[in-house]
Amino acid sequence: MDTIPAHGGTLINREVNGVEREALLERVPVMPRIALRRREISDLEMIANGAFSPLQGFMCEDDYIAVRGNKHLSSGLPWTIPVTLSVSDETAKSLKEGSDVALFENEDHAIGVLHLRQKFRYDKEREAERVYLTTETAHPGVSALYEQGEWLLGGPISLLNRPHNPAFPSYRLDPRQTRDEFKKKGWHKVVAFQTRNPIHRAHEYIIKCALEVVDGLLLHPLVGETKSDDIPADVRMRCYEAMLEHFFPKTRALLAVNPAAMRYAGPREAVFHAIIRKNYGCTHFIVGRDHAGVGNYYGTYDAHYIFNEFDPEALGITPMFFDHSFYCRSCDSMASNKTCPHDSSNHVTLSGTKVREMLARGELPPREFSRPQVAEILISAMKA
Ligand code: ADX
Repeated sequence: MDTIPAHGGTLINREVNGVEREALLERVPVMPRIALRRREISDLEMIANGAFSPLQGFMCEDDYIAVRGNKHLSSGLPWTIPVTLSVSDETAKSLKEGSDVALFENEDHAIGVLHLRQKFRYDKEREAERVYLTTETAHPGVSALYEQGEWLLGGPISLLNRPHNPAFPSYRLDPRQTRDEFKKKGWHKVVAFQTRNPIHRAHEYIIKCALEVVDGLLLHPLVGETKSDDIPADVRMRCYEAMLEHFFPKTRALLAVNPAAMRYAGPREAVFHAIIRKNYGCTHFIVGRDHAGVGNYYGTYDAHYIFNEFDPEALGITPMFFDHSFYCRSCDSMASNKTCPHDSSNHVTLSGTKVREMLARGELPPREFSRPQVAEILISAMKA
């Protein structure tokens, strides 16, 4: 018995094997070819392994328009982020709808085939306004969108090969594997935690609050493409290992990576992140302050409010919302705006810039902010 059905009811598998794979591989040399960018490679892998169920490929125009405008697929299922494959004018003109297109990771590594159903032009500015709520190119998601080609290619995909040298192979569990792990562990209620940062005390606090009411935790850091000033995934992974070793019971937490790219789409990405974790078999999903936000583009709790727009049953995973959390000297404990009566002069909060400066000087931030076991890893990574 699965803990939770995949989004749309069926966990998609677009990885081809055996004769089907051989037949496609044989035809690859005569197919037109496209070199994928990093985000598209991770999207391809996640479509194939079911993490993006019910998507079977890159979006055609009906789904693209429905998602951009109404935050639902054309079938009516909640979905908030376009999953698209863009190409230049010139490439689009050379491709015929109804044909197969080989998808390459680099010059010589074919990883998939797109069964091209439709090519269409799209309005980038409209997408920026609707999905990112800004058209400013200072927003990393918007600038990536504006660098894309002018056409989108839609249609189902077949995965022929996994990308070369995947990072963190031992933590790279597909949705089928996390679901099996949960079953083996006897976890019925599983909360997922998305992160793109080293875990600090506030993260730890909200994770543990959630863990008090479910059976297990999937610590699921995003390790796909992030902006250049985010901390690299290999350093973060060492921090997560240290957190689990020192501060979580081994029988209650599982660490696995989410290969997705970060979009920084704030509220819309919070819903997207929740749907992905549903596909990995989780029943609950943590949404804290300014989830998936960047700069000042989103309100602190916009990523909570957006969930009111969805039918909880259609969404099928329970969000767990947390207010801004911190250590309070007067409470003498971790707390949040919901539980602490003291004013902010009692709270230990540090800006990202301040923390980076301290770490760069080799100084440990206060224990109330960061566990020394984590800070030491960050200090040595900065020295390297
Ligand atoms: S995110 O882009 O993945 O959202 P980050 O790794 O910082 O960035 O956050 C992971 C999760 O922790 C998100 O749900 C975020 O809202 C939450 N979070 C981060 N800091 C705090 C905090 N101080 N208080 C409450 N929630 C927080």
